[in-house]
Amino acid sequence: MTHILAIETSCDETAAAVVVDGRRVLSNRVASQIEMHRRFGGVFPEVASRQHILAIQTVIREALDEAGVVRVADLDAVAVTHGPGLAGSLLVGVNAAKGLAFAAGLPLIPVNHLEGHVYSNWADMPGNPGAADEFPVLVLIVSGGHTELVLMTGHGEYRLLGRTLDDAAGEAFDKVARLLGLGYPGGPAIQKAAERVALGRFSLPRPLLRSGEHRFNFSYSGLKTAVLNLTRQLVKAGSDPTEPVTAAEIAAEFQAASVDVLVEKTADAAQEFGARQVCICGGVSANRPLRLAAQERFAGLGIPLHIPAFALCTDNAAMIGAAAYYRQQRAGLGSFCDLGVDVHASLGIGD
Ligand code: KG4
Ligand code: ZN
Repeated sequence: MTHILAIETSCDETAAAVVVDGRRVLSNRVASQIEMHRRFGGVFPEVASRQHILAIQTVIREALDEAGVVRVADLDAVAVTHGPGLAGSLLVGVNAAKGLAFAAGLPLIPVNHLEGHVYSNWADMPGNPGAADEFPVLVLIVSGGHTELVLMTGHGEYRLLGRTLDDAAGEAFDKVARLLGLGYPGGPAIQKAAERVALGRFSLPRPLLRSGEHRFNFSYSGLKTAVLNLTRQLVKAGSDPTEPVTAAEIAAEFQAASVDVLVEKTADAAQEFGARQVCICGGVSANRPLRLAAQERFAGLGIPLHIPAFALCTDNAAMIGAAAYYRQQRAGLGSFCDLGVDVHASLGIGD
């Protein structure tokens, strides 16, 4: 059995986990900085790095204790996110991981954060068994920083089919929520507001939905601008777009447009490439209407769908431990003895 301690600090969650054989999650601790960033309405890189420094030791200690790991040297490897993300934040996790690996004489496995999101689908959580090893898998990564459609032809083998041409989906949720005075982070705030109202008072576009050249690409800045224009029209007509019911109605339309585009493009790609299963991951995959719409669409197509348990949708370290396991299985643990790991703020996947 391979026990991996994984560390994740790419954005605003300080996270550590112990994962066995890439699937069994023994512990999954996350210290969120949301309350800190709520005050500023977004993530300030300098603040994020400092918060990671303050939290990391405790988070790692808790993850080890919860997993019953007495000594770091009892593990088989340390894994850490080395990109993409905020450079200053990534450095905190990478340096902590280097220190532990050096002191305990363990291999150090650098993991791409996006590959981590993909492998959140393989980690087992109670009531949510991991995905099957049946390829090709069509993966939709949909988070605060990324919106990517990736064809996975085997473990660690990715082909980028399409991506956002401008804003990421989660970023658009955050910006639209700010515009409507709904708070931060925007995704959960929009979901909650939308639950209280019916659709139909406003209408918003579905960008690039039937676009030949951009069939598998996304655009969220256009949708965000459509919301901005709508709020301006309302102000001109003498009404307040941040009035709770109006804001909720706009939020609901924005969420419906986002979900339609995400589900339709994923279904289109899954059929085009003969996917044997579909995985959806990243912070936005926590969105309930998206989960329900995807379940219905893929049940109709007869393609198995996997969406991680809620705790594995937003940033966490269990997904990094899962990805690290499958990485070392391909390359061998012995190939990870170099501690000279650097951070890569704009690392991609499959391109
Ligand atoms: O994966 P993640 O934790 O961090 C990145 O790698 O970016 O994703 C964070 C994003 C934020 O933009 C947040 O608003 C969005 O995920 N999010 C949601 C929901 N929960 C989190 N978006 C829509 N609905 C949700 N329930
Ligand atoms: Zn993420």
